[in-house]
This record gives sequence, C-alpha cells and structure tokens, in this order.
Amino acid sequence: MNPYISRRTFCLRTAQASVGFALTGIPLPGSASAGHEITIDLTLGANSVLTSTGGALYVIMPSTGTKVIVVRNSETEVSAFSSVCTHNGCQVDLPVSGIATCPCHGARFSDTGVVLKGPAASDLRKYYASVDGTVVYVDSDPVSVIKEQGMPENGNTALAVSRYRGNETLNLSWTDGTAKPGTVSLIDVKGRHVSSMKWDGRNTCTIATGKMPRGEYIFKVSVAGGEVLIRGVSIN
Ligand code: FES
Repeated sequence: MNPYISRRTFCLRTAQASVGFALTGIPLPGSASAGHEITIDLTLGANSVLTSTGGALYVIMPSTGTKVIVVRNSETEVSAFSSVCTHNGCQVDLPVSGIATCPCHGARFSDTGVVLKGPAASDLRKYYASVDGTVVYVDSDPVSVIKEQGMPENGNTALAVSRYRGNETLNLSWTDGTAKPGTVSLIDVKGRHVSSMKWDGRNTCTIATGKMPRGEYIFKVSVAGGEVLIRGVSIN
C-alpha cells in the first residue's frame, strides 16, 4: 500500500458500515480530503513518479482493499483502474510505454485500462481520478456528500443516498423520519443548471443524471432552512 494517501472523511450513510470498518486501523499520514477516498500528495518522494507523463503506481482502495493502478496520462489527466485482470484475476503489471500487461496469460491493456489484447475480453474496472496541482484524487464510489448546511443532524447527513451503477440513478430519503419537502437540482460539470424536480420529502426521491460527460456534477437538495450538496462523478 502506498503510505502517502488518506481516506475521504465523508462517506455515504448507506456505505458507512462497510467503509468505516474497513478503514479502521489504517494509518493516515496524509491530509484528509472531503469527498475523496484517496488523496495522493505528489510533493512526496514516494509519489513523484506521478509527476511525469507515463508514470504509474499502485495504491490500495481503503474501502474495498482493491489494488488500483494510477497513471499520469498527461499534464492535466490521470487514470485509475483496478489491477485485477478481467480474464482470470491475476495482478496486471504497471504500464510500460503505455501498455499494462498481465503476467499470467499475456493480456494487454492501455494506460487507461482499456483491453487491447486477449484473452481478457473486457476493460479493467475504472475509478474516477483527477489531478489538481500537486494532488491526485481517486474515488471508489462516484457519489459523496460534499456539503451540508442547516440540516438537523449536524455534521452527519440526514439524507440516505443509494446509487445504482450503470444508469447513474440516485435514490434519496430522509433518515430522521420527518417529511421535508424541497427541490432537487442537477448541476453539470461546468456548473450549469440542468434540471430540477420537486420532492415531497416523504417518499423516496429517484433522480437520474442521464448521460453526463466525464467529470463531476452536483445534486443540490434544497429544503426550508438547509441544503445538501451531493457530488456525483461520471466516469464515462
Ligand atoms: Fe490475466 Fe489471464 S489472468 S491474462
């Protein structure tokens, strides 16, 4: 495990049990970063390989224990994908000259995890990754609560959020049993308002992003006296 990482400090309520327990006992020498599972500080020597295009390293996803390959693809782009070969589960090597090879049966993948040569038939599982100056972020789940103001459970979201992979659909419900009607808005990767829907606050709210471009989008849940921002990430 790369020692210079930290875990996200916000977890979905629905994921708190598994994520929280999985993280117990993991040293956290790096700085915590809200909303991201892994933060990689590129100013630290062990991570400096990611400052150069083509550089790559393994990190462990704290919530799942999955060994993930993180690659610097360009000055502004990084990729993260599982190192578990989709053929038969061997660990794929770090990419060399843009090609990651599986030592077991020779499958090859690109430096973004796309299968190039069998026997593997499918891409390596992708995770959302981004670079911001000297920090790289990697997320195991593309949805997290990033801001909460005026909500009744101070510091702990009152929203239960569950996500269905594949179709980018979220289900929202209040966990304190009260009905708080409001509005749910979808804001795209450029901060533009895309759509809004009324929520009676009583029944489960089901919302879908539709086909979003790669990057972050936001769900803003507004109720009387407060709001919750939920960060979603499209890895399309
Ligand atoms: Fe990777 Fe067979 S397990 S090619």
